[in-house]
Amino acid sequence: MKLLITREIPDAGIKILEQYPSIEIDYRKGPPLSEEALLKAVVGVDAILPVIPDKITQKIIEAAGQNLKIIAHYAVGYDNIDIETATKNKVYVSNTPGDLTESVAEFTLGLIYALSKNIVTADKFVRNGNYQFWDPMLFLGPTLRNKVLGIIGMGRIGQHLARLAHGGLKMKILYSDPKEHIDIEKECDAKKVELEELLTNSDFVSLNCPLIESTRHLINQKELELMKPTAYLINTARGPIVNEAALYEALKNNTIEGAALDVFEDEPSLYNGLTSLNNIILTPHIASATREARIQMARMAAQNIIDVLIKGTAPTNLVNMELADKIGKIA
Ligand code: GLV
Repeated sequence: MKLLITREIPDAGIKILEQYPSIEIDYRKGPPLSEEALLKAVVGVDAILPVIPDKITQKIIEAAGQNLKIIAHYAVGYDNIDIETATKNKVYVSNTPGDLTESVAEFTLGLIYALSKNIVTADKFVRNGNYQFWDPMLFLGPTLRNKVLGIIGMGRIGQHLARLAHGGLKMKILYSDPKEHIDIEKECDAKKVELEELLTNSDFVSLNCPLIESTRHLINQKELELMKPTAYLINTARGPIVNEAALYEALKNNTIEGAALDVFEDEPSLYNGLTSLNNIILTPHIASATREARIQMARMAAQNIIDVLIKGTAPTNLVNMELADKIGKIA
């Protein structure tokens, strides 16, 4: 059985897979594969372990052919995978939640601190030799206690963020989500509101929802105009949830106080002008980059592959639930 791993991942996952000699691993450790290289590499494979920049399109799934049984994604978000085609072809898709939840929530909180305490701009200020004397009015920002954190998408990550912000910092939590989350409402005194109310009332707005058709450009000019002039926007979810052109204008015109982006509309390209702004923090999609999360993600992806190729079951972290009781087409 053939497995394509498109990028280097922690050894912990490779070691698990190597215990099964019937799995022949094509392990690519270089830069992301071009579409052309990916099209060639997938031919005849039983499993693909892709990472975030890999676009697993209909073309790729069809090029892999009849043997393909699982796409074991090394990430929690799977908007880069054509789930519809995978499901139609009875190919399982799995993802890697777990320690990543805490890592992304912690990183988001880190961005909330960095923005409100001016940590990045103050660092640049000192490096540039501008620190001449202590100044009572220098780099003033808000305290966090009692400030309102609006969480868009109250899934695993949103819930953990709510716990950290409410439990630790005594922030007030608003959230918008298609579902009600009674447990987190009780635990964090969180209140479910419409998006408009969330944007109008929050001091910090954190995006923690998946990228789907209804969340593409969810934050656009109109939404940014609803936010307080003192509010901050944080995106650790997926770039296209925010219209970067509208965000650029809002930051340039100080419609909002600041923003932090860990993800971008056309990753890794940046919208023209973003880097010239002082009121934005830009990081290279590293919200889940803790050693613990990345090792656990490797183990989970490996286990999902073993579930399917060796045990003949659905993967533990199945995404396309329509295939939960699929039978046949298993090695
Ligand atoms: C990271 O962005 C992930 O989806 O795992």
